[in-house]
This record gives sequence, structure tokens and C-alpha cells, in this order.
Amino acid sequence: MYLIESEENVGFLTASYVKNRIEAFITTPEKPYFVIALPTGGTSLDLYNHLVKFHKEGLLKFDNVVTFNLDEYIGLPAKHPESYHSFMARNFFDHIKIPQEQVNILNGNASDLEKECRLYEEKIKHYGGIDLFLGGIGQNGHIAFNEPGSSFSSRTRIVNLSEDTIKANSRFFNGDISLVPSRALSMGLGTIMESKEVIIMATGIKKAQALYHAFEDKTNTAWPITILQKHPRVFVLADKPAASEISKTIKQNYGLCSFIK
Ligand code: F6R
Repeated sequence: MYLIESEENVGFLTASYVKNRIEAFITTPEKPYFVIALPTGGTSLDLYNHLVKFHKEGLLKFDNVVTFNLDEYIGLPAKHPESYHSFMARNFFDHIKIPQEQVNILNGNASDLEKECRLYEEKIKHYGGIDLFLGGIGQNGHIAFNEPGSSFSSRTRIVNLSEDTIKANSRFFNGDISLVPSRALSMGLGTIMESKEVIIMATGIKKAQALYHAFEDKTNTAWPITILQKHPRVFVLADKPAASEISKTIKQNYGLCSFIK
């Protein structure tokens, strides 16, 4: 696990990395698409702004990219402004050219939710797995909607959102926790761990405790992010406030890597 502490450009750095990876990808008959897993949430907004900017400047194309979103609320109409379908359209997909069939977002209104999850896993496998996983981190250490206590071998499934997450996300629902769905569909930790590379973006002091656990704690299910210690290629991109609880020694040990050539 590498720590990249940056001033305010977590979104720009991540977008640049994504751009480099897509550029370097060579399409073959066996592997025609580069597969990216995409988050929603406040932290990701800057990433999408920069990706859209690169695209509009003609520096980045998505023709050979397939995307899988990490999660979606259960029971919120796809047209609801706070559904992850709407979030992705508004902040990313409406501004880029990508064939519709290369975009995958879990359907939280499917009549058979378990089948929806199974098919999602099969589809990820069909495309050869996730090449680049992009995620944020919850204040409670969740990745995607894998809340504390989630099994490290979990796959895409129905999850109950924790009180912490409902409270944190109520900021998108006029601060009213009763409007935040209590359940969601989410990729599992097992699904995420099979990704070839993982990038976690973290900004702001509210993420400091979770990042402390990510780097200084033992791997444990109370802090789902700690599972990433066992992944061979993880970059955590954090601004100064988010990285403020991580000790100097750890920063020296984990911080030495060249991220973007
Ligand atoms: C959203 C997701 C979540 C968020 C996390 C951080 O698709 O998977 O894990 O990445 O809750 O959210 P923000 O960025 O809003 O603090």
C-alpha cells in the first residue's frame, strides 16, 4: 500500500493516472476493454471534472473502456437526483462519449436483487476482471458500501447501510436521515481485492481516523479499508488533513513511490 500525500490535487492526480492507464492499454481480441470501477460521492467530483476536461480537450477517449459502478441505493428511483445513476450521468457520463453498453451500474430497483448482484459479478468476470478500481473511503473505513463487519470474501450483494453512513450521506438529502435509503447493492471486498490495481482517494479531516487505521492498524473487519493492506498494488491519495493522523515513520515507509511518470 502506498501513500501519496498531495496538496489539493487528489482528483487531478487520479484523473491523470486513469488517463495514463487508458492510453497505455493495448486492445487485443482476448482483452478488448480496459475495465474501471467507479465511485460516487463528494470526493469523486474533482476526479470526474478532470476526466471530463481531458476528454473535452481531446486528450482522453473512452472507446475501449468498460465501467462498473461500485454501488447503488436500493429502492431509490433511478431518476431521483441522488440515485447513483443520476450522479454518474450528471457528473460524468452526460459529458463524455462512451457507448451505453460499456457502462454498468447496479439496478437497485431490480425485481430480483440477488440475481442482479450475481449477474454483475458474472459480467465483471466476462470482461476479465477490474483493471483499475477507484474508490473513496467512508469515515468509518468503508470502501464501496462494505460497512464495518463486512466479510473480507464478500461479493456483490445487498447491504444494510450503517448509521454513520446514513448520517454522512444525509447531506445529499437535505440533512434528513429519514430520506436516505437504508439498503444498497454493493461490490464486495472479495470483488475489490481481485482488482489489478486500487486507488483510494481521501480528502478532508473527516477521513483522518479511517486513514490512520488503514495504515497503522492490523487487518480487521471493524475497519474494512484495512483489507487493502493485503492487496499488492494500492495507492492511497490523500490531502494533508486526511493524512494528518498517520505517523511520520509510516509516511516514510509507505510514501516512497513514483505515482505518475
Ligand atoms: C460511493 C462509495 C462510498 C464513498 C464514500 C466516501 O460510491 O462507494 O464508499 O466513496 O462513502 O464518500 P464521500 O466522497 O462523499 O465522502
